[in-house]
Amino acid sequence: MAQINPSILSADFANLAAEAEAVRGADWLHVDVMDNHFVPNLTLGVPVVESLHKATRTPLDCHLMIEEPDRWAPAYVEAGAGSVTFHAEAAAAPVRLARELRAKGARASMALKPATPIEPYEDLLPELDMLLVMTVEPGFGGQAFLDIMLPKIRRTRQLIEKHGLEMWLQVDGGVSAETVERCAEAGADVFVAGSAVYSAEDPAEAVRALRAQAENARHACR
Ligand code: DX5
Ligand code: ZN
Repeated sequence: MAQINPSILSADFANLAAEAEAVRGADWLHVDVMDNHFVPNLTLGVPVVESLHKATRTPLDCHLMIEEPDRWAPAYVEAGAGSVTFHAEAAAAPVRLARELRAKGARASMALKPATPIEPYEDLLPELDMLLVMTVEPGFGGQAFLDIMLPKIRRTRQLIEKHGLEMWLQVDGGVSAETVERCAEAGADVFVAGSAVYSAEDPAEAVRALRAQAENARHACR
């Protein structure tokens, strides 16, 4: 089953509760946390995640684009995140961190920037519930999808199958009606979409349409 996670980075930050409601039916809400160090942009942190968690029933998928996730990530589980993604490039001890996130009751996930290969992390995959392949340079919404990431998505799917893992494979950046099928064919099953959802006239309908496209593309390639 394909999952669609709208990114609230493209939503109105002054109306987050209403923006969460506008995508009712989404599988998760994708929450981009940026610290102005790991990426050149600053968004929100633990208090906003805490409030958002109280304001919506949709589970929160927190994508931490921050330095020192080993130190800061566990607080996002306490704030109510159901899934926490840290970056491989920033984590000092990814295995220890993934185990801590799981022990606290969240899904543990790791993200790779476009230039970071998956292969060095093969042995780590069983420690994770999801792997996020970034399809833009992290930092901003509305960027163009990087086609050159498709082979990495394919290779990651092969590694997941080789090890017989249940983990999810997420793509984030430039995912839209034009690109979602290629991602699904390459093996992604969780799709983050910011501008494609929130710039649509009916965001909830955009979520349904993207999910249908992804489902069809995944079935077609099996
Ligand atoms: C980028 C963020 C993405 C972003 C995606 O650093 O991680 O989640 O919001 O936005 P779109 O879908 O507009 O590329
Ligand atoms: Zn993101």
